[in-house]
Amino acid sequence: MCGIVGYLGNKKATEVLVEGLSKLEYRGYDSAGVAVNTGDELSIRKFKGRLAVLSDDLEKSPIQGTLGIGHTRWATHGEPSDVNSHPHFNKDKSIAVVHNGIIENYMELKEELQKEGYEFLSQTDTEVIAHLVDKYYEGNLFDAVYNATKKLRGAYAIGAICKDNNNELVAVRKDSPLIVGLGEGENFIASDIPAILKYTKNVYFLENGEFVHIQNDTVTVLDENRNVVKKEINEITWDVESASKGGYEHFMLKEIYEQPNGVKETLVRRLDENGDIKLDDIKMTKKDLEKINKVYIIACGTAYHAGLVGKYAIEKFAKIPVTCDIASEFRYNDPFVDENTLVILVSQSGETADTLASLRYAKDKGARIMSVTNVVGSSIARESDDVFYTWAGPEVSVASTKAYTTQLVSFYMIALDFAIKKGSITKEYYHEMIEKLKQMPEKVTKALEQENYIKEDIAKSIKDKDNAFYLGRGLDYSIAMEGALKIKEISYIHAEAFAAGELKHGTIALIEKGIPVIAIATQDSLFEKMVSSMEEVRARGAYVIAVAKEKNKEVEKSADKVIYIPDVDDILSSILTVLPLQLLSYYAAIERGCDVDKPRNLAKSVTVE
Ligand code: F6R
Repeated sequence: MCGIVGYLGNKKATEVLVEGLSKLEYRGYDSAGVAVNTGDELSIRKFKGRLAVLSDDLEKSPIQGTLGIGHTRWATHGEPSDVNSHPHFNKDKSIAVVHNGIIENYMELKEELQKEGYEFLSQTDTEVIAHLVDKYYEGNLFDAVYNATKKLRGAYAIGAICKDNNNELVAVRKDSPLIVGLGEGENFIASDIPAILKYTKNVYFLENGEFVHIQNDTVTVLDENRNVVKKEINEITWDVESASKGGYEHFMLKEIYEQPNGVKETLVRRLDENGDIKLDDIKMTKKDLEKINKVYIIACGTAYHAGLVGKYAIEKFAKIPVTCDIASEFRYNDPFVDENTLVILVSQSGETADTLASLRYAKDKGARIMSVTNVVGSSIARESDDVFYTWAGPEVSVASTKAYTTQLVSFYMIALDFAIKKGSITKEYYHEMIEKLKQMPEKVTKALEQENYIKEDIAKSIKDKDNAFYLGRGLDYSIAMEGALKIKEISYIHAEAFAAGELKHGTIALIEKGIPVIAIATQDSLFEKMVSSMEEVRARGAYVIAVAKEKNKEVEKSADKVIYIPDVDDILSSILTVLPLQLLSYYAAIERGCDVDKPRNLAKSVTVE
């Protein structure tokens, strides 16, 4: 977790660093700090708490200097505190480092360094890096960082500066993200693109093991053997506006409203002039597909919930057996993965540590690797054989919304593409489904028109509840899981999702007067069965909020409140059903006074196991 940023140029470094960190707070926000070379010394400011604490301090007492590094932290080793905040420095404060990742052998290194007389101030793993760089420093910062990293095991993106040289910034990455921003007479390093977008759109994506050496206005990238690497400049097409709130009160609400466009972009960019799906980024041929006898979909959290829908779509359309598993479990379960297996990793950030580790595990076993991700050039994208990019645009809010719906669209497209290649569906049915997918952006817009009703009538009715249940059957059960996760993570209402048919096997004991039950009944084939489950919980006092298709008005007899979604085929309903659940979570969180975009204990990108 954590976000790092670094700057060398002509501007006031603290301004660039604080601006960059404000775009990285989604990666962690329990403390923030900067180190700036003033010409005479390294001036370090770091504080527990949100970035505002640091920026207030810098406003009251500015630091002059045009070279600096900054950090926003999500604690792994050591509690959030001033002393555990980054940057960390060596004994005489002549070297400062920021780090994102985890140093697995830090205890061993710490003991060795302590024996050599190094004193540790913090409980962090990062402090060993500062002392190691000090140990190897003989007047050349690059050499020192290079030699220090040889000792490190684990994941890291590191930025380092030293007092002796006001014109040098060194950085390196291994298994944690890092990009280089290339400006006019100024250069940047950062964990993610939004941090530097205000200043430049030109970036280098660093590969694992690559170092960047910025001296004055020259940027050199070197591989792990110190060979100079010729990097390609990538031009970022997002603008600063699309990475900021655009008039909405929270990123989450903005991102909810970006879904019609995200769904459209993900779809139409991949339709050719005949209306066929054209997956340029997926090199898998008909022959490759014939070899595949099973698929694993692996992901975490919301992305896992999208994978559950993906399983449903691939099995239904392409008739290939699919197992969907949680990334933190998958590789410890001895799964049946071989060269006839396709493993699809789903990840908004493309950096989730467990998902990345699952990718590598499956690759070692010879599987074909495909990923569905939102971040171009992310680790997961780069290490996959085939990548399907969701065109959601940057997702900043910790609670994932638009990434999820674009992941769903991706799965429908992948499933239809596989199916037509395998011949498991007819050309007519294929085109009929594509036509129906093309109607989805409009239906998404329509489903979002329920906002005010959800805000005033539904969110207010559950705001004081401690518990809620989400019920669904078939595809709706996967959406119930996503709905429950969303409300838990941002409103802190305890919520659980259950397959409605399982109720009588235990869960119904928890139903008591007034408990909200969100009953998802959008599958025509299972509608009557869902209505029976609603009656069962209502008879025991539950307050039933149903989500149903517009045409199924009879649902009103069995529910206290109904949220309608536009009529749609059962198989595609997931894209619409989740929308009212996102809005309900958002407004329940607002009613409860929660910090929607930055829920407690969470970070946007989980880059540690
Ligand atoms: C929930 C949420 C998380 C992520 C999960 C995976 O709203 O955002 O559950 O879905 O941490 O993250 P990615 O998709 O970046 O791999």
